[in-house]
Amino acid sequence: MANKIVSAIDVGTTKIATIVANVRAQEDIEVLGVGVVPSHGLHKGIVVNMDEAKESIAASVQEAQKISGMRVDSACVGVTGRHISSLNNRGVVAIPRDDRLVRPQDLKRVLSAARTISVPEGKRLLHAIPRYYTLNGEERVEQPVGMHGTRLDVETHIITASVSSVQNLVKCIRSVGVDLEDLILEPLASGEAVLTAQERESGVIMADIGGGTTDIAVFKDGNIYHTAIVPVAGYQVTSDIAIGLGLPFHVAERMKKTYGNVTPGLDTDTEATMTGIENGHSASYRELCDITRSRMEELFELILLEMPSSDYPNLAPCGLVLTGGTANLTGLAELGKSMLQMPVRKGAPLGAGVYGITDILRDSAYATTMGLILWQARNKEKSAWQAKRGGLLGGFLKVVRKLLRG
Ligand SMILES: Nc1ncnc2c1ncn2[C@@H]1O[C@H](COP(=O)(O)OP(=O)(O)OP(=O)(O)O)[C@@H](O)[C@H]1O
Ligand SMILES: [Mg+2]
Repeated sequence: MANKIVSAIDVGTTKIATIVANVRAQEDIEVLGVGVVPSHGLHKGIVVNMDEAKESIAASVQEAQKISGMRVDSACVGVTGRHISSLNNRGVVAIPRDDRLVRPQDLKRVLSAARTISVPEGKRLLHAIPRYYTLNGEERVEQPVGMHGTRLDVETHIITASVSSVQNLVKCIRSVGVDLEDLILEPLASGEAVLTAQERESGVIMADIGGGTTDIAVFKDGNIYHTAIVPVAGYQVTSDIAIGLGLPFHVAERMKKTYGNVTPGLDTDTEATMTGIENGHSASYRELCDITRSRMEELFELILLEMPSSDYPNLAPCGLVLTGGTANLTGLAELGKSMLQMPVRKGAPLGAGVYGITDILRDSAYATTMGLILWQARNKEKSAWQAKRGGLLGGFLKVVRKLLRG
């Protein structure tokens, strides 16, 4: 890929982050500008107040433009929320010609067969990602074109989203003068940023615990295997601290970030009282940590409930990788390890080959944002192929564009 300026907008429940980057190659990415502003008008990952959301998005884009000196004409945008569902589906076609040679149009046919699922009213296909092909019963053929066979199967991971939720998001983005390059499911983006190739190959669970949602993805054999969105994350922890300890929300948020600690076996019995955090508000350290820990224990249980199998050593031998802003909570990986009896680590974005204005991006909270840039760098050709043929993602964008015009 030659020099290409790409942009990403991560419309989170807590913050809106825009990145402008120059992608020279998959492993040669210069971040030119980052714009981060607090998010308004979003709840659990979806737009609930268009005017507020537009204003926040505009401010984030403007900041990234100012820093990078580039105009953001189009951007890749993350999608999340309870309206997302996913399943694995298989497509099968016969290779009818005499030579039995698999041609590109056969790939198109088999993918289209895999996409033939009944989608509930008001929902559309967001992604149909080929996981692997099988040719004449031979599994895990990576590139069947040019090979000979009589029967071609494809295993795909299919993700559907609510048209109206996506439509509202797209409308906000376009109202600030930015066209949509691509819509990407957020856990797929975060996975790009924080997982190693070896983890994806062996099997790993990734949980991006943000403000409003926990975005989950399971990778196996180098490919996406399962995705799920749980509408519980850092916001609910703060809200429970605020209610439980009788504090204003912003004070509870500050206390959680500064003092929250969920390390198993932590001695919180000192009854130390914290004072002077803000306007004389105080709270017991033990109560603060107890509320935070029980919320996080519940969240780990919810993550397990979303798993397609309870045979975790087989499903995900590399365990769980935590990211998103809430992964910064002190002791969270240790709590996960002791509760789930599997390896748990914190994952932060930025691997080799990303440089430029990257200081802020080292925080786990930017896994999705950075992932949206990496997704474009790594999947550019695939996306273009899909959109050009009006299938897969191209189809979703077409529907949304038509609705917006109408
Ligand atoms: N040090 C910390 N300790 C505990 N929680 C933290 C810490 N730093 C950030 N958080 C929490 O992380 C959350 C924000 O994370 P993030 O920026 O990933 O969310 P988001 O992308 O805006 O939201 P979402 O992806 O859910 O729409 C907030 O709830 C915040 O309280
Ligand atoms: Mg997020």
